[in-house]
Amino acid sequence: MEGTATAVSHEAPLGRTPHPVLEADRVDEIADLCDRAFSEPPGAEELLGCLFADDEPACVRGDPQVGVVATALQDRGPDGERRGFVKLLVVDPAHQRNGHGRSLLVAAEQDLAGASTITIGADAPYYLFPGVSVAWTPMQCLLERYHYERAEVNFDMAIDLDPLDGLRSDGARLATEADRSRLVAFMDAHWCFWKKEVMKALDRSTLFLGEDDEGITGFCAVDVNRYGLLGPVAVRPDLMGKGAGARVLDAALAHLRQHGRHEVRVSWVSVMSPYARVGATIIETYIMYRKRLTAPSLAGSGGAEAIARNSERIA
Ligand SMILES: CC(C)(COP(=O)(O)OP(=O)(O)OC[C@H]1O[C@@H](n2cnc3c(N)ncnc32)[C@H](O)[C@@H]1OP(=O)(O)O)[C@@H](O)C(=O)NCCC(=O)NCCS
Repeated sequence: MEGTATAVSHEAPLGRTPHPVLEADRVDEIADLCDRAFSEPPGAEELLGCLFADDEPACVRGDPQVGVVATALQDRGPDGERRGFVKLLVVDPAHQRNGHGRSLLVAAEQDLAGASTITIGADAPYYLFPGVSVAWTPMQCLLERYHYERAEVNFDMAIDLDPLDGLRSDGARLATEADRSRLVAFMDAHWCFWKKEVMKALDRSTLFLGEDDEGITGFCAVDVNRYGLLGPVAVRPDLMGKGAGARVLDAALAHLRQHGRHEVRVSWVSVMSPYARVGATIIETYIMYRKRLTAPSLAGSGGAEAIARNSERIA
């Protein structure tokens, strides 16, 4: 039941938010706050990459001793809809249940006032969480109270690398700077939606590429936004369903295993079976909460990205 909603709750302090904007020099303090509040916290480098990237800067507000919220507005898609995202909302456990979460969420909604929708997490390309973990009950209660709706379910899957000793490693190699221009052309032609994540992996030397006589067959990116996460993975569209994705994935997993990793986590999985093939199991489930602030436009409600993600095929 998606309807029109006003951005500010009656319970919230009205007018300008009291939460000051935080710059990148506060990232260590934000990491410490996350450390206190999350069981698997993002580290300072991950926060820097996801909240303070030059090409996708977030608005980060609050007090790292108490609580912080980060938002981003994205203009994407032919419909011109502006989509708002809450990338992070966290309150120090010692200060929880004192109204800080409410106040920060209201500040976020004020910062996102021009958006048609507000989604919690799942803010590709530089996301920390693909939604709200089913384990985060307080966050779900807070969002329910503010009339967010459950829009989608996302999964992470874990792959135990230790038993995988027979994987072929010749299906892909680590990409280098020399691959940059043809990689850009490949991403522009086939997987534009994942271009930023893939180029970030190239910059970090954590991108695996498969090749044939016609060029790049597919890619597998690792450690893009969070260390230990695998994805995105995709193949050239003409190779879908022909095993090219499995070859690239197997080679990436073989390489990671060879370099001392014991587990990887496939992030924001769309198609499960290619990963289940190598023993992956669902390890975390996220609900994508969303609130619509304006009526959907006739040109579509921005489904292009979801379609792109859900069209992923790696085997
Ligand atoms: C979710 C979180 C930000 C809430 O912060 P908070 O300052 O404790 O929240 P508030 O005191 O403003 O509470 C607002 C509402 O949230 C809900 N809520 C918060 N904690 C709750 C809990 N433990 N159980 C049930 N509802 C809860 C209630 O509806 C509450 O309203 P009420 O106090 O009038 O009943 C905080 O629990 C937190 O930092 N959790 C860990 C981080 C996290 O999960 N972030 C999500 C990733 S982006």
